[in-house]
Formats: sequence, C-alpha cells, structure tokens
Amino acid sequence: MLGALAGVVMATRPSNRWRSEWTVDLLDIRPTDQVLEVGFGPGVALRAAARRVSTGHVTGVDRSAVMLGQARRRNRRAVAEGRVELLLGGLDAVSAPPGGFDKVFAVNVFMFWSDPVAELRRIAGLTAPGGVVALTLQSRARNATPEDTRQTGRRIAAAMEEAGLRDIAVNTLPLRPVDAVCVTARV
Ligand SMILES: C[S@@+](CC[C@H](N)C(=O)[O-])C[C@H]1O[C@@H](n2cnc3c(N)ncnc32)[C@H](O)[C@@H]1O
Repeated sequence: MLGALAGVVMATRPSNRWRSEWTVDLLDIRPTDQVLEVGFGPGVALRAAARRVSTGHVTGVDRSAVMLGQARRRNRRAVAEGRVELLLGGLDAVSAPPGGFDKVFAVNVFMFWSDPVAELRRIAGLTAPGGVVALTLQSRARNATPEDTRQTGRRIAAAMEEAGLRDIAVNTLPLRPVDAVCVTARV
C-alpha cells in the first residue's frame, strides 16, 4: 500500500515531473536512440523518453514490482507497440542491444547505490562508445540547501570520473523545495 502511494506521489508532485522532463531534455534523445532508464518508479520519465523515439527503443529496469505495475499502466500503449520494455530487478537484469545503449539515465536513484562506482562501471559496459549517461538527484531531506545540491553534484561527478566516464558536466535546475542536479557524461 505504502509503495503504491509513494508511486502516486512521485508521479504527481510537480517537482518530480519537472526534474524528469528536464533530464530527458538534457539527454537530447533522437528518434533512433536505444535508451535505458534505471529506477523508473511510476514511469513518468520513461513516458517522456518513449515519446521521443520512433524506430528506437526504451528499456526500463526497477527493482520494485509495485513500480513496475504503475509504470506499465502509465506506458501501456508504448509497451504494446514494443517501443518500451520494462524489466524487474537491477542492472544485472539488463542486456545491452547490439552496439550498446545510446542514452542511459536515472532520476533519484544514485542515493540507493551502495557502490556508485561499481554501478557506473556496469552502466558504462551497457552503453555505446560515445553514449551519454545522465544521473539526476533532488534531495528530499528536510532542510536540504542549495549547497547540499552542489555537494551532490560533486559526489556524482567524482564517481563518474572514477568509473572512467568523460566530458562530465554538472547542470542545475532551480526547483522547490531545493534545486535538482543532473550530471551528464560520455562513455
Ligand atoms: C525515489 S524512486 C525515483 C523514481 C523515479 N525515477 C522518479 O524520479 O520519480 C527510486 C526508484 O528506484 C528504484 N531503485 C532503487 N535502487 C535500484 C536499483 N539498484 N536498481 C533498480 N531500481 C532501483 C526503486 O525501486 C524506486 O522505484
């Protein structure tokens, strides 16, 4: 029940929707792109990504069966058309398409990774050479400050660098209750 309610909140809270749309915009998804979202939750960003692909494809993976159900309902048509595939589990459940994913992203998932560098290395292994990875985070901690957002950006960038990613760029979206950060990089 609580998981289902959390999904409804995540899907309807304006700041969640804006940071998801913003992340997908930053990725500049092309119609032919192979896209992967890690931790899609209720499937809002997944839907935004699916709208941008035509002959491309969007794969999503999430370890929550409740979120899988919500995302499947939200993306019913794209799943039926074969443009979106939803997987239950972590990165181990994902097989890369031939040549690898062109774009990989995750929104508010970084904080769940106990070993972010290991996860980023796995992501790099699934991504095409030159492909783009985007990790977005908006703190939900009570009293989070813009300085917390800046520190988060630095933490994500450092993990990406250690994992061997390049062209790392930190982007900030002014939001309430606190700004969101999206760090992009190339494999
Ligand atoms: C805070 S929610 C964010 C959901 C969505 N991205 C959003 O911003 O609304 C985090 C989601 O990531 C999933 N998740 C956390 N760790 C994961 C992992 N290692 N692999 C796959 N999914 C994960 C959770 O099940 C949850 O659905």
